[in-house]
Amino acid sequence: MPAQKIIIDTDPGQDDAVAILLALASPEDVEVLGLTAVAGNVPLDLTAKNARIICELAGKVDVPVYAGCDRPLGRDLVTAEHVHGKTGLDGPDLPDPTMPLADGHAVDFIIDTLRSEPAGTVTLCPLGPLTNIATALQNAPDIAERVQQIVLMGGAYFEVGNITPAAEFNIYVDPEAADIVFKSGIEIVVMPLDVTHKALVTQSRNDAFRNLGTPAGIAVAQMTDFFERFDKEKYGSSGAPLHDPCVTAYLIKPELFSGRHINVEIETGSTLTLGMTVADWWRVTDRPANALFIGDLDADGFFDLLTERLARL
Ligand code: BDR
Ligand code: CA
Repeated sequence: MPAQKIIIDTDPGQDDAVAILLALASPEDVEVLGLTAVAGNVPLDLTAKNARIICELAGKVDVPVYAGCDRPLGRDLVTAEHVHGKTGLDGPDLPDPTMPLADGHAVDFIIDTLRSEPAGTVTLCPLGPLTNIATALQNAPDIAERVQQIVLMGGAYFEVGNITPAAEFNIYVDPEAADIVFKSGIEIVVMPLDVTHKALVTQSRNDAFRNLGTPAGIAVAQMTDFFERFDKEKYGSSGAPLHDPCVTAYLIKPELFSGRHINVEIETGSTLTLGMTVADWWRVTDRPANALFIGDLDADGFFDLLTERLARL
């Protein structure tokens, strides 16, 4: 099978970084057409910088990195320095990037790419708030039917919220954007907290990254060391959840994951539950399914894949 063409839309973030490294290390499975940065974990200038730091860490300086939207569609930006640190990539000491940003706006890159590649051959992989993707769909509604699928990290049902009691961060930051995406009619695969909280970097899994002895392996271990303090404290779990790498791992080995085709709608009105992904897991409504909502993964298989691929960089 030829490699799947993908655009990674991202707000790095240590777990975004690992997701991107996994994709860049897997050219037989995925061809990364470009990275599009969005404001999320940290403001846009930092996410656009971090995306380039990661490309350079992977030795893939030819991957174009575009800067996109610097704020949600209709709200003030909420960031997550309390999780990711001031830079968004706290942990390793990585050099500032020397590769420039690509010319043009991320939203235009998404639109132009979808229009120029054969219809149904490009998958979008959002790892942050959905502002860039929703803006592209608003500006160019014709692209919706050209997208192969969207595989995104966001939302939660059984795990409920991590930024409010009801909402997961990526959806909460720009619920109007998420609403547009979930109503777009595009085939969507969702990696909610329900599955990402099962992708925990235990000590031995992190040692496996570190023991690769490569700059990428060591940097991933240091990133995890940094952001796991937050999750361990919050959840009492045995390590940090690697949220975003679930997206790129799914593209490489979908058999590691299982879920249900269900209806998922986004709460945009209530202040109490703003950004909640109302997932009809038990199929108690007759609302049509619009997403494959993932609930489980083979965690050992997932970490074996990650370690094996990171070793290539
Ligand atoms: C999501 O929010 C961000 O902090 C992470 O990078 C991930 O995309 C998890 O809720
Ligand atoms: Ca992210």
